[in-house]
Amino acid sequence: MSLFPLSVFKRKKDDQIPLAMVALSDAPSAQIACDAGIDAILVGDSLGNTALGFDSTLPVTMDMMAHHVAAVVRGVKSSTRPDVPIIADLPFGSYATIEKAVENATRLMQLGAHAVKMEGLGVEYAERSVFAALKATGIPVMGHIGFTPQSQMALGAVVQGKTHRDAQILVNAARSLEMEGCFAMVLEAMTEEAARKITEARKVPTIGIGAGNGCDGQVLVWHDLVGISAKSLKMARAYAQTRQIWTEALQEYKRDVESKAFPTEQNSWSMSPEELEKWREEGAASYRGQEYMDSEVEIESPEGEPFHAFEKVVGVWERADLPFDDDRDPFANQ
Ligand code: KIV
Repeated sequence: MSLFPLSVFKRKKDDQIPLAMVALSDAPSAQIACDAGIDAILVGDSLGNTALGFDSTLPVTMDMMAHHVAAVVRGVKSSTRPDVPIIADLPFGSYATIEKAVENATRLMQLGAHAVKMEGLGVEYAERSVFAALKATGIPVMGHIGFTPQSQMALGAVVQGKTHRDAQILVNAARSLEMEGCFAMVLEAMTEEAARKITEARKVPTIGIGAGNGCDGQVLVWHDLVGISAKSLKMARAYAQTRQIWTEALQEYKRDVESKAFPTEQNSWSMSPEELEKWREEGAASYRGQEYMDSEVEIESPEGEPFHAFEKVVGVWERADLPFDDDRDPFANQ
C-alpha cells in the first residue's frame, strides 16, 4: 500500500498531465472507476442530489457522508488499484466551528478517506483558521471555490468571476487557500479566464468542474459522466447513456417475469431425486415448525366484568404425525 496516495496530485501537475477525478458514492462505482484508471475519487456531498434524491446538498449530514465514505473505501480497496486517493466532503455545517471541523474530519479520515474537502475559506477564530486546525491534526484539505453549492442561498448566481472584480476575488481566494496549505483546490462554475489565471498563479493543482480547459485536472460527477442523470448540465459530459441501457434492461426483465422466461433452470436449484423421494415418504408426516394458534381467553374488563377475547399464542411442534389439511400439504396437488 502506498504511504502517500495524494502525491498523484502534485506529480501530475509537475508533469503537466491533467488529472481525472470522479465524484461518486458507492462501492461498485468506486471499484469500476479505479479499475478504469481514474486518478482520484471524491466522495462529494453531491451524493445528496445523486444518490439520496435531495434537491440540494444542504440536507446532507455527517452520518450520511460517513455511510458513503465507508462504502467507497471498500470499493477502492477491492479494486485493482487500492491506492487511489479518496477525498471526502465535509457537509454543510460540519465545519462551522474549528472543533466541529476537527471532529468531523477526523471521523472521515478514520473511515479511510485520505483527505477532506471544504467549501469556501473556512472560519477563523482568534487568528486560528479551520485549515490550520485540520493541518495541525494531520488532515490534508482540498479547497473548493467558485460556485460552492453549500452556500448557494447566499450566492447570487451560478457562474462566478464574470466581472473583473469578481474574477480578482476568486484569484485572491485561491491565493489564501494555497497559503492555508491546501494540497489541491476545486474550481467550480467560474469563467475560464479566472480559472486559468488561478491555475497559472498557484503551485497547488486546480481541479475544474465548469471552469474551462485551463485547470490542472477535471472532476465529473459519476451520474453525469455515465449518463444516469435525467438532466444534462452544461458543465458536464455524459460519456455513455446508461440511463437508457438500464431502462431497457428493466423493461426486458419485467417482460421476462410476466412471460415466465425468467428464471430458467439455469437460475434455479433442485433437490436430488433421492431427497425428493424421502421427502415424499416421510416429509409430509414429519413436521417441525412454529404455528400460530388462536386460543380463546377470558379477560377482565377495567370495570371487573369478564369477557372473551382471542389471543395469539405460539405453539412449537417437534413432530406432529398429523395429516395436513389439503391446502397445507405440499404434495396435495401433485
Ligand atoms: O460534491 C461534489 O461532488 C463536488 C464536486 C462537484 C466538486 O463538490
